[in-house]
Amino acid sequence: MKVRRCTSVFFEPRESTHFDLSSLLSGGNGLAHTRCWFALAPHLAGELRVSEEEMVCVGRYSPDEWVTLVQDLDPISRRLLEVGLLISDAPACQTHRDADEGYRALHWWPLAAVTHHAARWDAVNSVESMQRLGTDNVAGLLRSCGAPPPATIEREARGPDLPLQRHVPQSLDSLLSQRVTCRNFDQGRPLGQALFSQVLERVFAAQGSVNQGGDVQFLKKHSPSGGSLHATEAYLLIQHVEGISPGLYHYRPVDHSLRPLPSPAMPLYEFACNALAGQHWFAQAPVLVIYAPRIARSHWKYRNHPKAYRALMLDVGHLSQTLYLSATDLGLGAFVTAAINEVQIEQAFGLPALAEGPFAIGGFGWRASTQEIAEFDPTGSVW
Ligand SMILES: Cc1cc2nc3c(=O)[nH]c(=O)nc-3n(C[C@H](O)[C@H](O)[C@H](O)COP(=O)(O)O)c2cc1C
Repeated sequence: MKVRRCTSVFFEPRESTHFDLSSLLSGGNGLAHTRCWFALAPHLAGELRVSEEEMVCVGRYSPDEWVTLVQDLDPISRRLLEVGLLISDAPACQTHRDADEGYRALHWWPLAAVTHHAARWDAVNSVESMQRLGTDNVAGLLRSCGAPPPATIEREARGPDLPLQRHVPQSLDSLLSQRVTCRNFDQGRPLGQALFSQVLERVFAAQGSVNQGGDVQFLKKHSPSGGSLHATEAYLLIQHVEGISPGLYHYRPVDHSLRPLPSPAMPLYEFACNALAGQHWFAQAPVLVIYAPRIARSHWKYRNHPKAYRALMLDVGHLSQTLYLSATDLGLGAFVTAAINEVQIEQAFGLPALAEGPFAIGGFGWRASTQEIAEFDPTGSVW
């Protein structure tokens, strides 16, 4: 049998505090602290608690050079093989080996891979947890976090401030000022297919295409994209668009068409609420857009690159703003959120977490006539 360590792993020391009666009885503060190590490896399903001996043992193996065993493995290495921190060519270890090789083939910068993987939510209800903590309102936030850093800062001046001229508002200014995150969608009013298609065409369609020989094709879109790679796919959850069956779809940017996908195992609205971590105000939108970058397309150029993940996040941000403005221009409301349950979305759309996992959800549709959930419109541009 041959053995190596997994491609990427980081070890984090953690301390947890718990109630300790013996400390209280002996005059202490009743608290005890436990320190331990966790292994964070992106090819594994979750984090793993490990002993110091196990951590040191992992470091003795190369990630690239296989060691051929001439005698039985020691008990520590055996456990590391079982949990997938060590990789072997034995048939019994194939699942961990496949996961590690799959991860390796994607050329992640390891810190970004760990961040991406560990930040995924699985069945989190962010609304309930904020309500429980009392941080769903400003008074509660102030109570638990104190005052925020100020909205603007004053740097030390090297000379007198230079006042800039104000301009006469033009049509773009009016569009920009009407862009307000919509949390109140009209559930009784379906979105017409023409408006729906127009938003998708503006935001996600290829406006042009350049073939540079072989398989090298670059698309032109209305948003900028790192390396001109346009790695972000748009997956749709359609609930209420005229003439389109409710369900899951993949948007095809060159053809400007939708490809139907299998439906989730639960009613669509319930799935939308789960995907949006309990944010029912967004789940009511007639169209949800899941922004899911294809990591392999980005890492084809930005291989093991410290900026690649950041560039993908910026790509999604640009697409989202284009969606906001496109929808606003057509009189529709729009939103974006990063508070999403990636795991449930990956399962429903068949997206491998490290290769095509979602970054954010946006959406658009007709606004409701009344504001039940607060929106931020201090200039009264919408409400
Ligand atoms: C990256 C990002 C994440 C956001 N996440 C949420 C969210 O989870 N829930 C929500 O209600 N709004 C979310 N928003 C909307 C913001 O709350 C909103 O942009 C902010 O309050 C300013 O309001 P405006 O967009 O109307 O100007 C998000 C916005 C951005 C850009």
